Amino acid sequence: MAKRVRKAVFPVAGLGTRFLPATKVMAKEMLPLVDKPLIQHAVEEARAAGIEEFIFVTAQGKQALEDHFDIAGELYRTLEGRGKTAQLEVAREAEIPPGKLFATRQKQPLGLGHAVWCARAQVGDEPFAVLLPDDVILGEQPCLKQMVEAYDGIGGNVVAVVDVPREQTDRYGILDTGAENGALVEVRGLVEKPKPADAPSTLSIIGRYILQPEVFDELERHERGAGGEIQLTDGMARLIGRQPFHGLRFEGTRYDCGDKLGWLEANLAFALARPDMADKVRAMVAKLV
Ligand code: G1P
Repeated sequence: MAKRVRKAVFPVAGLGTRFLPATKVMAKEMLPLVDKPLIQHAVEEARAAGIEEFIFVTAQGKQALEDHFDIAGELYRTLEGRGKTAQLEVAREAEIPPGKLFATRQKQPLGLGHAVWCARAQVGDEPFAVLLPDDVILGEQPCLKQMVEAYDGIGGNVVAVVDVPREQTDRYGILDTGAENGALVEVRGLVEKPKPADAPSTLSIIGRYILQPEVFDELERHERGAGGEIQLTDGMARLIGRQPFHGLRFEGTRYDCGDKLGWLEANLAFALARPDMADKVRAMVAKLV
C-alpha cells in the first residue's frame, strides 16, 4: 500500500510582480478570493485531503502568511466582547494548531524546484504534496483529495493535469503521455515550458503535485533549466522510469490567480458558486455589462 501523504509544501516566496501595486508590501497569496485569502483556500484544500502538516517556503516581507494562521488575540477579544460569535468563528477557522505549521526561507528566487528543495528537512523521507496557491480549482471535490484517492491506488508520483490550447504550452510543464486509464495518464516524459511546435502534447501540469522524497536528491543538483531557473519539472522528470508517475485529469475548473484577469474571473466564479451571493452577483454583472 502507498505510504500516506501527511505533509504539504506551499511555495509562497514569489514577489507577485504581476500584481503591482497591490503586492508592493502585501504578499500576493493574501489577495482574497471573495473574502478568503488565496493561501487559506490552498490550506483548506490540503486539509480536506488529509494533510496534517503545512510547510510554507517563504521570504522576506511574507510575515502576514504565518500570522493569518495564528490566533489574533486583540481581534478575538474585541469580537467576543461585542458578542460577534459568527465573525469570531470565521476568524478562528483559519488557525493551524501549534506545531503543525512550519516556515522555511527561500533566500534567493532561483525557481520552483529550488523552493521545493528548501523544504527537504521538514518533509523528510516520506511522500508529500505541493500546492501552488496561485492555482485555484473550483469543483465538487477538492482537487488534492481527488489526487490522494488516485495515489492511494497507484502510489508513486501524481500531478494534476489539464489540456491547454497549443499556443500556451510555453507557460506550463507539459507531459509526454503514455497509456491512459480513465482519468489517469501515464507520464513518459516532462518538459518545462516548451515552444508550441516542440511540445510533446498539450496536457499541462497545474499547481498540484504528490511527490516521492527522492525528488529532493534530483533537485539537490541545482541544475538550471527553462528561464535559467531550477525547475521542479526537471527534477520530477528524472524520477520517470524509476517510480510510477501519472497525470490526473481532475474534475473542476482551474483559475490562474497569479494573473489579474484570471483572479477577477475566479472571484466571479467563486461568488457565483455561493448560495448567499449568487443572485446578487448575477444582477450586479448584468447591470455592469
Ligand atoms: C509552474 C511550473 C509549471 C506549471 C505551473 C502551473 O510554473 O513550473 O510546470 O505548469 O507552475 O501553474 P510558473 O507558473 O511558476 O511559471
